Amino acid sequence: MKIVLPRVVLRELTRNDAEDRYQWCLDKEVTKHLNMPEQYPPFSKEETIKWIEMCMNKTNGYDQKAIIDQDGNHIGWVDLKNIDKLNKHAELGIAIGDKKYWGKGYGLAAMEEMIDYGFNELQLNKIWLRVEIDNEKAIKSYKRMGYVEEGILRQDRLRNGVFVDRLRMSILKEEYIKGPFAFSNPS
Ligand SMILES: CC(C)(COP(=O)(O)OP(=O)(O)OC[C@H]1O[C@@H](n2cnc3c(N)ncnc32)[C@H](O)[C@@H]1OP(=O)(O)O)[C@@H](O)C(=O)NCCC(=O)NCCS
Repeated sequence: MKIVLPRVVLRELTRNDAEDRYQWCLDKEVTKHLNMPEQYPPFSKEETIKWIEMCMNKTNGYDQKAIIDQDGNHIGWVDLKNIDKLNKHAELGIAIGDKKYWGKGYGLAAMEEMIDYGFNELQLNKIWLRVEIDNEKAIKSYKRMGYVEEGILRQDRLRNGVFVDRLRMSILKEEYIKGPFAFSNPS
């Protein structure tokens, strides 16, 4: 079955994205499964601005992009990090920061764009990710995207004082080319 995904654009970050990012990080439902410090808020405004600037200047190893919906709204971020040029793989991370947009296909649409960029522009062979074992929403979405399980990373995340397992998943370029994707973007 082909489901038409909403259209999204990935664009480079700008300093103006810092305010949205700061606000999204105040929402514990958004950050629960994100690798962030336990303090609240996880990052000050100044830290958020610095982070955005590091992404813009490519000094932190993150290729992070803003997710923009069809009406021009800034709704989240998606990135590739741990980019291993020798072995042609990288780790994907994603958050739809504005919860109004959850469960409507925006995460899938943004991932599709980032996977395309990783395989076709960065010439990667594999895109992998780590997801907390109880982040059911994200795991479901990754499976829909075509990611397969590679294994359990035991006690991989210290979250609120408790070690949590993470699932490692990946998608290969050959799988992406052949499909079978259940989703397609409107042309
Ligand atoms: C995980 C996360 C990125 C998923 O993004 P999302 O946009 O909510 O989810 P998806 O794009 O995968 O949407 C999937 C749902 O949209 C539905 N969908 C897909 N296309 C659709 C369309 N065109 N119209 C309506 N619904 C659609 C799917 O059927 C699916 O619904 P279901 O879950 O009820 O089966 C998001 O929930 C999030 O940012 N969470 C917080 C941060 C986080 O945990 N990040 C991951 C860390 S590893």
